[in-house]
Order: sequence, then structure tokens, then C-alpha cells
Amino acid sequence: MEPIIIANWKMHKTHEEARSFIEGLKPLIAGKKAWIASPFTAISSAVVAAEGSEIMIGAQNMHDALQGAFTGQISASMLKAHGVKFVLLGHSECRHIFNESDDLIRRKLERALMEGLIPVLCIGETLKERESDQTHAVLRRQLMSALEGTTDFTPLIVAYEPVWAIGTGKVASPELAQEAHLTCRKILAELSSEQVAASIPILYGGSVKPENIAGLLAQPDVEGALVGGASLDVNSYHQLLLGGTT
Ligand code: PGA
Repeated sequence: MEPIIIANWKMHKTHEEARSFIEGLKPLIAGKKAWIASPFTAISSAVVAAEGSEIMIGAQNMHDALQGAFTGQISASMLKAHGVKFVLLGHSECRHIFNESDDLIRRKLERALMEGLIPVLCIGETLKERESDQTHAVLRRQLMSALEGTTDFTPLIVAYEPVWAIGTGKVASPELAQEAHLTCRKILAELSSEQVAASIPILYGGSVKPENIAGLLAQPDVEGALVGGASLDVNSYHQLLLGGTT
């Protein structure tokens, strides 16, 4: 399976900057798949710029309701109408800065599946949780609660992003990432079956760069990466798609 490398642009790029990034990327990738989680305001331009290529445009969050009096919010159907294919849910910045709960993330995930968007469920432990040996318990809680009550949760992508590695330059070692991914895979198998669990891509996120991606992708349970900072520059993102620099 081709690794899935998702660019998470966070609160970067105007619609013009998004367009010029994608126009620059198109001739470089020639048939390769690319995944970009764009800010809401750049989605429309990004989708138009990506036409005729294998670049999939996604969103970085959404509301769990279909519509209603929710000032400032965006629904799954609004995203779909713009050609969005996937949506990040439960990113650590949404959990920790905006206090999104496990329960809210479960409702969003259900809604995304119902509306035909691929949910990219982000999970991961804080430094404090890792140091107090709670990593497995946190991953279990986050996965179990997000998928509770959903019998068929494919298509689903899981992104393991240790909070201490996001934007810090402290990438997890390939071995540590592999161990966490295997834990996630086993929990997913408990919730479904080994076959379903094997079919769910588990991505690693947190300070991924062209210089360190190859070691991560070489692990048997690492099927791709969710990349923030190093995805903002088109050449850097292209390097990541190529598997990095060795
Ligand atoms: P980073 O962010 O690559 O800048 O560490 C990753 C993420 O938050 O998805």
C-alpha cells in the first residue's frame, strides 16, 4: 500500500497561497496521491486547483450537527458540497486548546461516516501521561470512546500523534512509534476483527520531516504520516511523498 502522507496546514495559507502550492505540487507528483488538510477558507480554491490530479483535499475539523444555530461552525455536508474527501478529528490542538471531549469526537466521527467523509481520528498521549506509564490506557480510552457504538467504522484512518512530539522537533523514535501503532492495531482488532484492523491505515504524526520519515515508514505498522510544519513548503512536502531524504 502506498503510504498516506497528509499535510496538516493548520492556520496557515490564504486561498491564493493554497492555490499556488497545489499548482506547484501537481507537476511534481505525476499520478501519486497527496492529501492536504486545508483551512476552511482555502478549501474551495484548493479543490479547484487540484482538479485532474490525485490530490485529495480535506478539512481540519467540523461540527457534529448537520445544521443549526452554531455560530462560527462548519458542517460535514458543507464540506462535502465543496468536494472535501476527509476530515481530521480529535487533533490534540482541538482536544487541549479547545477542550474537545472524547464524547464530542465520537459524535463528529459518526457524522463524518454518515456523510461519506473519511475521518482521520487523531489520538496520542501527553508527556505527563507517557512518563507516568499511561500511554496504553490513553490510546485505549481515546480509540474506544471515539468508536463506541459504531459497528462499521471503515473507511477510517487513525493518526497516532504523541502530544509531546507535535511542533516540538522531538520526533518519536521509529521503535516507539511502532510499539504505539501495534497497540492501536490490537485495540482496533478488539473493536472489530483482525482483518478490519489490518485494513485501517495508522499514520504517525509529530515533528515528521524529510530527514526522519524513512525510518518511521519502514516500521510494519506505520502506514503514513500526518505532517504539520514540514508540509507547508511544497518541496518539503514533495520530499515526504517520495519517502524522504536519506
Ligand atoms: P508537526 O505537526 O508536524 O508540526 O509536529 C503535526 C500535527 O500536528 O499534525
